[in-house]
Amino acid sequence: MTNKIRTAVFGLGRLGYWHAVNVSRIRNAELAAVCDMNLESAQRVAKELEVSFYTANPDEIFQDDSIQAVIIASPTSTHFDLLKKAAESRKAIFVEKPLTLNLDEALEIQAIIEKNKNICQVGFMRRFDPAYDAAQKRIAAGDIGKPIYFRGISRDPQSPHEAFIAHSGGIFVDVSIHDFDIARYLMNSEITSVNANGSVLKYPFVKKYSDVDQSLTYFEFASGAAGDAEASRNAYYGYDIRAEVIGTEGSIFIGNLRHHDIHILTKAGVTHDILPDFPERFVDAYNLELVDFYRVVNENSTPRVTVNDGVKALEISLAARESYQTGRKVELSKLALR
Ligand SMILES: NC(=O)c1ccc[n+]([C@@H]2O[C@H](COP(=O)([O-])OP(=O)(O)OC[C@H]3O[C@@H](n4cnc5c(N)ncnc54)[C@H](O)[C@@H]3O)[C@@H](O)[C@H]2O)c1
Repeated sequence: MTNKIRTAVFGLGRLGYWHAVNVSRIRNAELAAVCDMNLESAQRVAKELEVSFYTANPDEIFQDDSIQAVIIASPTSTHFDLLKKAAESRKAIFVEKPLTLNLDEALEIQAIIEKNKNICQVGFMRRFDPAYDAAQKRIAAGDIGKPIYFRGISRDPQSPHEAFIAHSGGIFVDVSIHDFDIARYLMNSEITSVNANGSVLKYPFVKKYSDVDQSLTYFEFASGAAGDAEASRNAYYGYDIRAEVIGTEGSIFIGNLRHHDIHILTKAGVTHDILPDFPERFVDAYNLELVDFYRVVNENSTPRVTVNDGVKALEISLAARESYQTGRKVELSKLALR
């Protein structure tokens, strides 16, 4: 018999809304509360998903002992405070990437989580995506020999709104972090150095935040492998997420542009549709990562994506940002090699 885990979701914006919908549908979860700084958003989602407890004040949730788990999907700049309070009030935690905006905060959270023994899963959903998951299993089984090169492409159809950029940590911390995490996972090795470049090609306002809308990071692994990750806000055509792993005996391609598996044939030629944005591309992954989170909470076991993974991916992202800003290759500290 599994218990229904009473859960609160913080932040009901572009992604948090979908987490709330998924929680409301998962068999062994109960969406007990929703919280957004914008009370109208909280009220609207509460009404839609038939939740009686909605608030703009996170403390009301931390003080409620009947709530066992929290999902943090508010802006990254708010994660540190919410994580601390969630850990101190002994909730099981699912937190969106990036864990926090800086490494000191991330390490403080890691120490608190380890001390309190909270379950804490970080939202690197690509690990649960059926295509990335199948690729990982084939690589681990040796089907392409020894993996020697990773290539990641993460292109958004447009820039997020300015307030998001201001609280996001910039493109390396917000976007490339997904590729750094999945690269560690697929290549089964730690990234040891990064060398990054970037440009502002379409959205001049990102300069205010020392950010870019197009970037490329080259990196090396402890195994001797290498890789690169492109991040872009400029894919006007749609949401374009792909990866490739080259091995000594073959390669694996992950992802394609198609949304629905159809081709339209007319005298003008053959066309297909394109994935519009992240909720469509990762619809299965966002559900599967939460299904697994509730399994972990019920079993009181260890998540597949730990707080340590969150710290490591953040460290690599911050090093990439530093490399772009200084124009120099950055060797990762010993921390990443633990
Ligand atoms: N895993 C992914 O693919 C993915 C995709 C998008 C966003 N994210 C992450 O999710 C988080 C949210 O991103 P988003 O795009 O949904 O942002 P968003 O700006 O669309 O929404 C954020 C929401 O949080 C609310 N909010 C602000 N401060 C709050 C607080 N202290 N407590 C509760 N609510 C608060 C805002 O009112 C807003 O409704 C970020 O950390 C982002 O990096 C991850």
